[in-house]
Amino acid sequence: MSTFYEEIGGEDFFVELVSGFYARVATDSILRPMYPESDMKGAAWRLQKFLEQYWGGPGTYSEERGHPRLRMRHAEFAIDLAARDAWLACMMGAIEDMEMQEIHRNQLVSYIEMAAHSMVNQPS
Ligand code: HEM
Repeated sequence: MSTFYEEIGGEDFFVELVSGFYARVATDSILRPMYPESDMKGAAWRLQKFLEQYWGGPGTYSEERGHPRLRMRHAEFAIDLAARDAWLACMMGAIEDMEMQEIHRNQLVSYIEMAAHSMVNQPS
């Protein structure tokens, strides 16, 4: 049985997706100040490797970073509904730019929406 990671195009797909995402973050007034200016390559690598691992690709993220614990790792950032929506807009834009089968798009979008809602840690 093939994994979502393989079906969607493997590492190349995630490199392009994350690149589209961070191109949008770079011009977003809420998100840009939250991300580490001096380590955007590192931030892109972490998100890419996490997503690859989540979708059945190599376990490089956990080998390098340990258990994802994403809510805990986001605790240092104030994520209210506005930040969540800004993040989602960047990711949805990046997803829209990519070609993929609808069945994959729906799966990806459902997960991304669920995950983004679960990262909110501030009242609005
Ligand atoms: C809801 C709004 C969100 C905001 C504002 C946000 C913001 C951030 C920021 C500022 C970082 C630090 C960048 C770095 O140096 O790595 C980060 C890291 C990260 N984010 Fe998010 N994030 C959000 C949602 C998500 C979601 C939904 C996911 C997963 C689907 C995710 C996955 C990650 C990962 C994997 C890292 C790196 C963690 C590590 O290994 O240190 N984020 N996020």
